[in-house]
Amino acid sequence: MSKIIIAIDGFSSTGKSTVAKQLAKHLGYIYVDSGAMYRAVTLFAMQNNFVDDSHFDIEGLVTALHNVSIRFKFNESLDFSEVYLNDKNVEKEIRTLEVSNFVSQVSTIPEVRYQLVKQQQLMGKYKGIVMDGRDIGTVVFPDAELKIFMTASAETKAKRRYQELVERGDEVEYDEVLKNVQERDYIDSHREDSPLVKAKDAIEIDNSNMTIQEQFDKILQLVNKTL
Ligand code: C5P
Repeated sequence: MSKIIIAIDGFSSTGKSTVAKQLAKHLGYIYVDSGAMYRAVTLFAMQNNFVDDSHFDIEGLVTALHNVSIRFKFNESLDFSEVYLNDKNVEKEIRTLEVSNFVSQVSTIPEVRYQLVKQQQLMGKYKGIVMDGRDIGTVVFPDAELKIFMTASAETKAKRRYQELVERGDEVEYDEVLKNVQERDYIDSHREDSPLVKAKDAIEIDNSNMTIQEQFDKILQLVNKTL
């Protein structure tokens, strides 16, 4: 059976990765969390003092970008690909609220996007891939055979994200999480380079009132129609 590219875009915490992961597993496809790559660059920027609460040295970060290597390595016991920044597993570190607070700023930098998009396109060279993010159907794979645009109400998104962070053991306030989700969505959809917009040929799914199984079934139906 021929393999396709499935692009799943949408706002923060709309549950893109949960369903994308399941779908990739079911189809025997590669799953790529493109947000993890932007988070890894952000962690690099934080660790090297290019960004903090009081300053953002864009030029310094751009100059140092050639020192950033991002890889995914499959962890068999977790049945999940983890992110490595310069050969160090950073899977846990990149998910903190601190990284979330800077990631959308770092993601506005065209040089950062250029480098990551190039790497993402290589990963999809042989198709058979499910990638989630903000610009996958519009910029990374404009010719993807199936494009999904996920939406959910602001409250649903913040609740999901809060739950996720609490389950990881992070001590966070719900209001703080809500604020971060809203701010990121605003920056991501208003930036100049590759803003988050629904691709013309994307199918929109509002999953505020859908279970994970319902989302999976719906997308699988669309995949089967495409194949
Ligand atoms: O998907 P996740 O919420 O982990 O993404 C973190 C951030 O990375 C987003 O808020 C956005 O700023 C950036 N991002 C992006 N383009 C992508 C994926 C993520 O700009 N394709």
